[in-house]
Amino acid sequence: MQKNHHFSYVIGAILILAPMLAQAETKDINQTKFSKQYAGWAATIEQTESEDMLATYPASVILWAGSTFSHQYNSPRGHKFAVADASHSLRTGVAIPPGGNGKSASCWTCKTPDAPRLIKEMGEEGFSGSNFVDLGPEIKSVIYCSDCHVDGTAKLALPRPHAQNAMAKIGLPFDEQNISMQGAQTCGQCHVTYYFQPENNNKVNMPWIFGNTADAIEKYYDTRRFYEWIHPISKTPMLKARHPDFEQWSRSKHADMNVTCITCHMPTVTDKNGNDYTDHKVSGALIHFDQVCAGCHKSKAQLTATLERNKAEVDAKSRQVQNLLVKAHYEAKAAWDGGATWPMMNEGIMGIRHAQWRWDFATASHGMYAHNPKEGLALLNKAIEQVSAARDVFKQVSSQVGAAKPVYPDISTKAKAQAAIGYDEPAAVKAKQAFIKEEIDKHWHPVATTGY
Ligand code: HEC
Ligand code: HEC
Ligand code: HEC
Ligand code: HEC
Repeated sequence: MQKNHHFSYVIGAILILAPMLAQAETKDINQTKFSKQYAGWAATIEQTESEDMLATYPASVILWAGSTFSHQYNSPRGHKFAVADASHSLRTGVAIPPGGNGKSASCWTCKTPDAPRLIKEMGEEGFSGSNFVDLGPEIKSVIYCSDCHVDGTAKLALPRPHAQNAMAKIGLPFDEQNISMQGAQTCGQCHVTYYFQPENNNKVNMPWIFGNTADAIEKYYDTRRFYEWIHPISKTPMLKARHPDFEQWSRSKHADMNVTCITCHMPTVTDKNGNDYTDHKVSGALIHFDQVCAGCHKSKAQLTATLERNKAEVDAKSRQVQNLLVKAHYEAKAAWDGGATWPMMNEGIMGIRHAQWRWDFATASHGMYAHNPKEGLALLNKAIEQVSAARDVFKQVSSQVGAAKPVYPDISTKAKAQAAIGYDEPAAVKAKQAFIKEEIDKHWHPVATTGY
């Protein structure tokens, strides 16, 4: 009797303890030790909105024909969605047929701390040489503490080798920077332009040997005769810019005054006990007007108006460049179809390459109108000059060879623009949905379905 009683006591204790033990297992030290920072990080799940950029700018579909950017391209949203959005995007496609070539696993580099972990385990080229889809089940966390900190501590870190190398290239090695530049560099691991090096198994590289302006990077690519894809309409060897937030910010008035990404997007706030901490809900900046901007900018209304004006100006100019570039791609096609040769076309084709590069560099950073509108507008103005000169070349060549008049497509909507380049979106969506159902939902970590 006595014995039995004791036995049920033990069972009872186990029943009570077991769920607690299980919970302790899912709570890591970052969550228990730094609950305020953890809560802020977790709250990025509230930032659910993003914009279908191809619907807003259908001309982009033509500019990116031949690249998966013409399939789907949305503006960014909260960090919590990074893995799921990359998994669900039409850009990353579906399972690879045997013997086929998929996307490089390098696409994971800026979505998850599992990327630096896998790079350590597999080597940089082992990782980048793998397929995006094959490493899917390995991705178990979205952008997290260890992406910016020595894990479990407040000390800042830069765990991605490509970022360490790049910061050294521009004379700002991470270990020698003060805390405010180190903070900006943690963002600069991902919010920068980059490319995959074909000669190194698609390893991520930042093309900064000559510096990180649009001109310096273009010089680097031109010297190496690098291109990402050949444009199917104009035959242009294309370049692609990706969110150069760090680069544009680093040349701004704010950067000169030590106002960094952290100052504006992760401001210092005070808890109810009067203790300062860093708000880890990385989101918009204007919402922090009172804590951050008011120190230097007097009126919120005025600053909001300035931002709106900058945005409208950049937007109008960007659309102007896009429309000119669409024409140029089709005018080149007409000249080729009429029998033009490379020596005749070279200058015009390079004009398209350089103009579209500048347009992309100016607009791929969604915050450029806030970070450095001056640089953005200068790039767009230069792009207008370059694409106009290219169009003159095509006009001249076309009349020389007696080419037929160019035929421009209807790009009034995303669907029409995609039809013009022969992309069957409904079929791609269907294939993607089947892949999600069979692979991602069944075999990948739940982090890959956040929000879906
Ligand atoms: C995108 C980069 C990034 C991520 C992700 C990130 N932090 Fe931070 N963290 C920073 C920066 C930058 C600072 C501010 C450093 C400074 O200026 O003092 C900071 C500061 C801190 C501090 C110092 C106290 C404070 O609030 O200023 C702690 C503790 C901390 N983070 C914990 C965490 C934890 C825990 C996580 C994960 C839940 C996390 N961080 C995720 C960049 C990041
Ligand atoms: C490991 C890579 C990585 C790091 C480090 C990182 N980001 Fe991001 N960031 C992303 C990705 C990817 C997205 C887009 C997520 C999506 O749309 O699913 C994003 C989105 C954003 C957004 C859009 C949020 C919204 O709600 O619209 C802002 C703002 C932002 N990041 C700022 C920062 C700042 C500031 C830092 C440094 C403190 C930083 N990020 C560090 C990868 C990163
Ligand atoms: C002076 C303040 C300031 C600084 C410094 C700053 N930003 Fe921003 N950023 C903004 C503002 C303002 C916006 C426009 C969105 C808004 O209204 O808050 C923005 C927009 C963005 C966006 C686009 C968000 C979206 O959803 O479209 C990203 C990403 C971003 N910033 C990242 C960064 C990174 C990375 C850095 C540092 C390299 C940085 N920012 C430096 C103020 C700043
Ligand atoms: C430490 C001071 C300081 C802080 C803090 C600061 N700014 Fe500024 N900001 C400046 C200065 C200086 C200029 C340049 C004014 C000029 O060129 O006349 C500027 C210019 C701007 C511009 C105009 C850019 C242009 O060229 O049109 C915008 C927009 C802006 N700031 C947004 C913000 C936002 C949003 C915040 C808060 C999240 C902020 N700033 C915080 C100092 C600051």
